[in-house]
Amino acid sequence: MTSRIVYLDNNATTQMAPEVIEALQSSYEAYGNASSMHTFGRRAAGYVEKARTQVAELLGCNADEIYFTSGATESNNTVFHIARSLIESGKGKRIITTAIEHPATIETTNYLRSEGFEVDRIGVSADGRLDFAELEAKMGPDVALVSVMTGNNETGTIQDVERASRLAHKHGALFHTDATQAIGKIEVDVRKWNLDYLSLSGHKFYGPKGIGVLFVKKGCPKKPFMNGGHQEGGFRAGTYNTQAIYGLGVAADLARRNLAYESAQLWAMREALRKGLLERVDDIVINGCQEHCLPGTLNVSFPRAEGESILLMLDMKGIAVSTGSACATGSLEPSYVLLAGGLDVELAHGSIRFSFGRYNTMEDVDYVLEVVPPVIKRLRELSTR
Ligand SMILES: Cc1ncc(COP(=O)(O)O)c(C=O)c1O
Repeated sequence: MTSRIVYLDNNATTQMAPEVIEALQSSYEAYGNASSMHTFGRRAAGYVEKARTQVAELLGCNADEIYFTSGATESNNTVFHIARSLIESGKGKRIITTAIEHPATIETTNYLRSEGFEVDRIGVSADGRLDFAELEAKMGPDVALVSVMTGNNETGTIQDVERASRLAHKHGALFHTDATQAIGKIEVDVRKWNLDYLSLSGHKFYGPKGIGVLFVKKGCPKKPFMNGGHQEGGFRAGTYNTQAIYGLGVAADLARRNLAYESAQLWAMREALRKGLLERVDDIVINGCQEHCLPGTLNVSFPRAEGESILLMLDMKGIAVSTGSACATGSLEPSYVLLAGGLDVELAHGSIRFSFGRYNTMEDVDYVLEVVPPVIKRLRELSTR
């Protein structure tokens, strides 16, 4: 084992920023229920509302369009719950999404299918970009909702969300994007992209886990996913998680202020790793679109080496990466995201995702470039025996 630790699994989750930890600690004095009318409650509500403003500033919207949830999984589920109720009340018949969404969308829409709802999944090209010809062909006045993720969690490929939203609106459909992986990495502007709904999650940008947001454009349909109290104007029941919300607000503020710098840093590290691997390891394939890519994500296939074996050998050297989607760990199925782009099954099996974050350095890249080549060489030797 080694004492050196290089965490390159920031798309799975990030470590909390010290500023967020400090904010969490200070916020525990606001232990009142944010819905209570007394001083304790009002103090807690002040923390919640401050965070709401900080998230709104990050997304370029009004604070009253921000709803706190338990994470992006709940936000996505809520959006499809709204689409379901629209269809049930006769406003449209179909939902359109893509083949490469996170399971929080894929499984939710699979469930809707099992309940008899019509869901179309649009394919992607070899570089993981949305097939707009197919989307255009599938659009029609009977589409209730179109959902296209902003940046993919496995490959980092960024979609032209603005164009997809325009197309959805042209046909009278509502538009949602899962921007969970994009927040803090690229500019996300709900007005410029003309979004109706957007999902994000605190733990992907140095905030706490178990807290997320659903942005709902003013006037767009809302329907609670859970029954209970009247929090969030009756849209999201459950006692406010004041501390996590406050921490999320601080994380949003940091993300907004550091965006340009961090985005450039992430890209520099990612590019140094990409070039270094191409120089040092023969016969590798870089997956996803290289032009429209989240700055910190690099997905690489190493033919004749199994992804899980690479992951475990790197782990022994203190390097944390993932293979396929971290959320799918435990399953040895090749990544459906890579297969959707037409990648060969063997290449998909040998794929590794390196995802950089705020606390990585160029020294981390140097270390990874020192460790990966002999690991791949060894595994390839073993595979030919
Ligand atoms: C694109 C995307 N959407 C949704 C989620 C789920 O987020 P959460 O962990 O907040 O439920 C993730 C987490 O991996 C993600 O990457």
